[in-house]
Amino acid sequence: MIRLSDISKRFRSPSGEELSVLEGLGFHLRAGASLAVQGPSGSGKSTLLALLAGLERPSGGWVEVAGRRLDALNERELAAFRARNLGFVFQSFHLLPHFSALQNVAIGAEIAGVRNPLGASREALERVGLADRMGHLPGQLSGGECQRVAIARAVVGRPQVLLCDEPTGSLDPANAGKVFDLILELHRDLGNTLVLVTHDAHLSLAMDARLSLERGRLRDLQGEGCVPL
Ligand SMILES: Nc1ncnc2c1ncn2[C@@H]1O[C@H](COP(=O)(O)OP(=O)(O)OP(=O)(O)O)[C@@H](O)[C@H]1O
Ligand SMILES: [Mg+2]
Repeated sequence: MIRLSDISKRFRSPSGEELSVLEGLGFHLRAGASLAVQGPSGSGKSTLLALLAGLERPSGGWVEVAGRRLDALNERELAAFRARNLGFVFQSFHLLPHFSALQNVAIGAEIAGVRNPLGASREALERVGLADRMGHLPGQLSGGECQRVAIARAVVGRPQVLLCDEPTGSLDPANAGKVFDLILELHRDLGNTLVLVTHDAHLSLAMDARLSLERGRLRDLQGEGCVPL
């Protein structure tokens, strides 16, 4: 389902030096499996998710997601592929502030090509326990509620692949627990492949496999459904 072969990613730093962020990274993640990505700050976790989402291109190696080599797609094809196959939950929610919870999810549904965007969005919000908050703007929602709207938006198109970057990172323990249970429940129901960056040991132990990065290299890979390449 997800295959990375000998991935490297380099950025040019503002001072002009080349910065190696990922080096020689390769693994295969089985369809329907869940993977926790761990590692210290700056080790390349978000960069890895950006490569999986096709938001960044690797400097070397290739990425395959849901049977498609991302390097074979141009920017327009990539955007369409993302819309149909991927859900992305960012740590900082990325909700549109002037649109209601329902509108935020419906925009995601429309981009994903869902047939009845409003109906599907209502259902998704009910699913995350926000039936009585649909008309609220993000500023009128708590952090945990915003995160649940972001999750509803990511899953409304029933994506094959769900990518989450520290989805509980900015939440208090009670809300983190709720969001955590919700992600696991959705993963089980949708049967999608899940890649989740987290520092939460409890959350990573609930995933099928755990991968840890250290300075852009694979340090450790444990569990089932994911093998190094
Ligand atoms: N566009 C960019 N240009 C230059 N350097 C970058 C760019 N994006 C990321 N980096 C650098 O790459 C390194 C890895 O960044 P990344 O965001 O992947 O880390 P991370 O493991 O997600 O860290 P955190 O846990 O703090 O979120 C960092 O040192 C960062 O400064
Ligand atoms: Mg990060």
